[in-house]
Amino acid sequence: MLGGYKKMKQFISVNDLPSVEKIIKEAITIKNDPYSYAHLGKNKTLGLIFMNPSLRTRMSTQKAAVNLGMQVMVLNIDKEAWALEFNDGAIMNGTNVEHIKDAAAVMGMYCDIIGLRSFPGLINKDLDYSEYILNKFISYTMVPVISLESATLHPLQSLADLITIEEHKSTLLKPKVVLTWAPHIKALPQAVANSFSEWMLKANVEFIITHPEGMNLNPKYTEGAKIIYQQEEALQDADFIYIKNWSSFNNYGQVYDQGEQWLLNKDKLRQTRNAKIMHCLPVRRNVEVPDELLDGPNSLILEQANNRIYAAQVVLKNILENIS
Ligand code: CP
Repeated sequence: MLGGYKKMKQFISVNDLPSVEKIIKEAITIKNDPYSYAHLGKNKTLGLIFMNPSLRTRMSTQKAAVNLGMQVMVLNIDKEAWALEFNDGAIMNGTNVEHIKDAAAVMGMYCDIIGLRSFPGLINKDLDYSEYILNKFISYTMVPVISLESATLHPLQSLADLITIEEHKSTLLKPKVVLTWAPHIKALPQAVANSFSEWMLKANVEFIITHPEGMNLNPKYTEGAKIIYQQEEALQDADFIYIKNWSSFNNYGQVYDQGEQWLLNKDKLRQTRNAKIMHCLPVRRNVEVPDELLDGPNSLILEQANNRIYAAQVVLKNILENIS
């Protein structure tokens, strides 16, 4: 057993792992032999609870659980269940029908592990960054919880991204990884970018973030990263470019509407080390990233999506070993 993270009882950030390096190695081992732990999930049930839409997280986590022999229940709680109340002591005479303390406790009786997707509202920063939905779930379910993207972080995505970088790096030295802000027409969460930064800062890479001035992420997740406001300067000698939009952290949830010059193209990559292109998907083609990069020979977007399976599988495996 490469991992043996006997303390892994939840997976909501990189801080739930004792070693990033070990889990990457273990994920790649699992990828090479995905059914080697097919016995581990026998008679165990994974509940996947979605408060927001998903394609990759839903399907890859389900596939990972099936590879481990688990049963899976999926609940689109925003559409298929009772409207939830989150406030303690609420007098529930409005539209919300069920309190989170009852719903989460019941789900914990039906499931051995629960995954939860809970996006931010992008209106109240303090509320979103308190992770009140995720934390209420954790408080009331009594079973291990995996984040399927919370208000502030997306650790399964970052784990898949780091597996992908490990597989595609061509230098024995630290690869240079650049996270670049990209334009978008809607307000997107900071979760993927916060999380990517948090993981890169624990990985054996040189990590740079580039974004328009004023579009910084939460410093809690970027402390230690080099931040450069000139995109082309930041891209110099890059081995990997991770492209992502996020809405403003300071002017919380606001869209930056002068961002068109931040759209990458082939020309802007001339000074890189033939950099690989990464994006977590879904992507608005030719708004956030042009077709020429997404469909080009250096694109890793499908490899990242594929590695979502093994990211989920290594996390589920370690939690199953802890609860078996
Ligand atoms: N990257 C990602 O989490 O995709 P979905 O939102 O489709 O799950």
